[in-house]
Amino acid sequence: MKIMIVVGARPNFMKAAPVVFAIHDHNASVAALPGVSQTDSAEQIQLVLVHTGQHYDEAMSGSFFSDLGLPKPDVHLEVGSGSHAAQTAEIMRRFEAVILEKKPDLVMVFGDVNSTVACALVTSKIVLDSSGKRPLIAHVEAGLRSFDRAMPEEINRVITDHLSDLLFVTEESGKENLCREGIKPEKIHFVGNTMIDSLRASEEKAGKSAILDQFGLRGASNGSVKRYALLTLHRPSNVDDRETFLSILEGLDELAGSCPILFSAHPRTRKRIAEFGLERFFQAGNEQSGNETGIRLLDPLGYFDFLCLMKHAALVVTDSGGIQEETTCLKVPCVTVRENTERPVTVTCGTNVIAGTNSENIRRAVKDQLSGKKQGRVPEKWDGQAAGRIVQTIVQEFRESEPSADSSATISRGASVSDAG
Ligand code: UD1
Ligand code: UDP
Repeated sequence: MKIMIVVGARPNFMKAAPVVFAIHDHNASVAALPGVSQTDSAEQIQLVLVHTGQHYDEAMSGSFFSDLGLPKPDVHLEVGSGSHAAQTAEIMRRFEAVILEKKPDLVMVFGDVNSTVACALVTSKIVLDSSGKRPLIAHVEAGLRSFDRAMPEEINRVITDHLSDLLFVTEESGKENLCREGIKPEKIHFVGNTMIDSLRASEEKAGKSAILDQFGLRGASNGSVKRYALLTLHRPSNVDDRETFLSILEGLDELAGSCPILFSAHPRTRKRIAEFGLERFFQAGNEQSGNETGIRLLDPLGYFDFLCLMKHAALVVTDSGGIQEETTCLKVPCVTVRENTERPVTVTCGTNVIAGTNSENIRRAVKDQLSGKKQGRVPEKWDGQAAGRIVQTIVQEFRESEPSADSSATISRGASVSDAG
């Protein structure tokens, strides 16, 4: 069986890494079976890792490969940045040639970025032989919905889900959304969250990060951690609109006056700060100021450093999808500066609150969260084992498929909504 795993942007890497390792584990356990040699077992999975190059800076891509221990991609499409249409089209054009050459049995895509939808779309229409065969499409993190079609990711999610044959969901809402949209229940598998697999697997290394000392966040005497907040912003609706960006920064003024806010700024956000002339918000917090408070503007941080900062933060303020989930898992209070979330379990079960982008609402949410009102618990199946369940499900699907089946796309597999594992 040949599985092609596609990654392209920062949040893909930590979602894909556990699946890569679960495939390695699967192959090792098959090879260890008595009488089976590594080369002749039909159950061995051949892995082809494709990087589209949607993200390309060392701090947005390369550093995650080394931190997570991901192998070098077998294929790099090097598409780079562009408008939605140009970027998506270029990924599609380059990916088509790769899939025709490699002929995988299954293509796995993650999350909701342009690389996800582009490669799912190519796979859905590819013809690999005279029988019309195409690879199966597996979508990891299927079914999430913000119900906001102004969000490019929502378009990517809906299209990818409707093209996919195997839909791996992270939370109950994903199952409900997909069933409501008419996706056949037998395609849906509630497996948990591979981003949390990565977090769990990285906790020890994150614990060794020197980032707290580097930013002077340890108390001088007993090594205790000083009070600070962590901020990330990169949603186009927040940072590409000057008024909204301003409103969020103003909403953080009281917090910035009471403790340092470390702001890991995405490249998109950096550009807008310069373009909109918002540098004044970061003067009080810059290294040279000597202040202990204010917003400190930083380049994107490495994975272990960022996990370490999240774990010890008094509060995280973000518009990131993944960070809402990670803070829930770490039980760290989170204020999401968006009007909605596609990850409702982080609010109903976790430590997240949705504050919107109005300054006053942000101030109130920050105060509430700092007063410790919201207690969270870790959602169902966010136990570090999701990738294993995904690989198990795929192996089972292939075992059950008839050897004579000539069009994978038309095969109906399984029987009911699966609660794998
Ligand atoms: C993308 C995803 C978004 C995800 C985010 C994670 C889509 C539609 N959006 O948004 O869902 O939350 O990644 O970080 O796929 N840039 C660099 N260096 C890089 C990458 C980007 O400088 O390595 C700059 C470029 O100016 C580029 C801009 O950032 O134009 C935006 O990059 P792009 O990949 O188009 O979208 P993101 O905002 O990163
Ligand atoms: N992240 C990181 N360094 C940073 C900011 C984020 O390692 O400076 C990690 C974060 O821990 C999470 C992922 O990047 O695992 C989230 O990606 P992002 O916020 O870019 O995308 P989204 O989840 O919104 O799609």
